[in-house]
Amino acid sequence: MRAVIRTGEPKTLTFVTDHPEPTPSEWPESYIIRTHATALTRDELTWSESLIPKIPIPGFDLAGIVLATPKTLDHNANAFKPGDEVYSFTKSSWQGNAREISTAVEKEMALSARQALFILGKLRPEFTVQSSNSRVRVLAIAASGSVGIWGVQFAHLVGTEVVGTCGPSDADFAKSLGADIVLDYQKANLLECTLEDVWKIATKSGQVISVAEPPEAKKLSEANGKQLTQITGLIEQEKVNGVIDSVFGLEEYKASFEKLQGGHAKGKIVPKVN
Ligand SMILES: NC(=O)c1ccc[n+]([C@@H]2O[C@H](COP(=O)([O-])OP(=O)(O)OC[C@H]3O[C@@H](n4cnc5c(N)ncnc54)[C@H](OP(=O)(O)O)[C@@H]3O)[C@@H](O)[C@H]2O)c1
Repeated sequence: MRAVIRTGEPKTLTFVTDHPEPTPSEWPESYIIRTHATALTRDELTWSESLIPKIPIPGFDLAGIVLATPKTLDHNANAFKPGDEVYSFTKSSWQGNAREISTAVEKEMALSARQALFILGKLRPEFTVQSSNSRVRVLAIAASGSVGIWGVQFAHLVGTEVVGTCGPSDADFAKSLGADIVLDYQKANLLECTLEDVWKIATKSGQVISVAEPPEAKKLSEANGKQLTQITGLIEQEKVNGVIDSVFGLEEYKASFEKLQGGHAKGKIVPKVN
């Protein structure tokens, strides 16, 4: 099958057409999925977790169609069946999804910004304007990035006051997502303020949550299907939306990573697979 694989040191990627397909006997606890698209995460090629599989493939987000269910599947109401369109965050295997056929387990479905706000940040997921979150102010750094767009939308939806930072060309976009105040990082001296500084200056009653290096307390997102199901409901009600910066073919992997690492993507960069 077609795939992008890492063959040498972390940033060495190659496009191949003969990568072996995963089979149900090799992955008895996983769904086998025909990949429609994946999405890239900034700096993912340098994550230490990516070193675990022998041949890591980039792209840990997955949208696709179920081809085969797990051999060990306990048939219950929540299980997916062949033909279902699913999406997932495939963390447990770190195999990556820039390949025509992928694998995922049912519990591996989550988005990191929701977990940052509602679990680590202890905000209440009450999706009404009159919620008890109205006294909370959230600062979302890089509000227009692929993590920030979710942080801003969820924080707005649960009634907090949202302050977002981004460049001047994205100010209206950040407001359209729900930011009450937008700070231009190029003007507000925010470029000189590092994440370590934020950690030090946060008030005692405040909390700093980071999915980016370098703070020691960096949190990795968890894969959680129940949370993604809730988010799916919000998307269907048009209360939140995914944002795609650009779509690339699998063969255009170099251009897609260059755009990603440029640091100015507005939402997600999506390699389209099938
Ligand atoms: N731990 C995890 O599980 C996890 C998961 C996902 C991501 N991450 C990490 O989270 C971080 C954010 O990722 P991301 O995908 O949102 O991408 P990103 O590339 O950090 O964000 C791009 C956006 O940030 C804005 N931006 C650039 N420089 C800025 C600055 N100095 N201040 C404020 N905004 C700035 C850009 O706006 P302009 O174009 O207007 O400049 C652009 O819209 C990355 O470090 C990534 O590795 C971690």
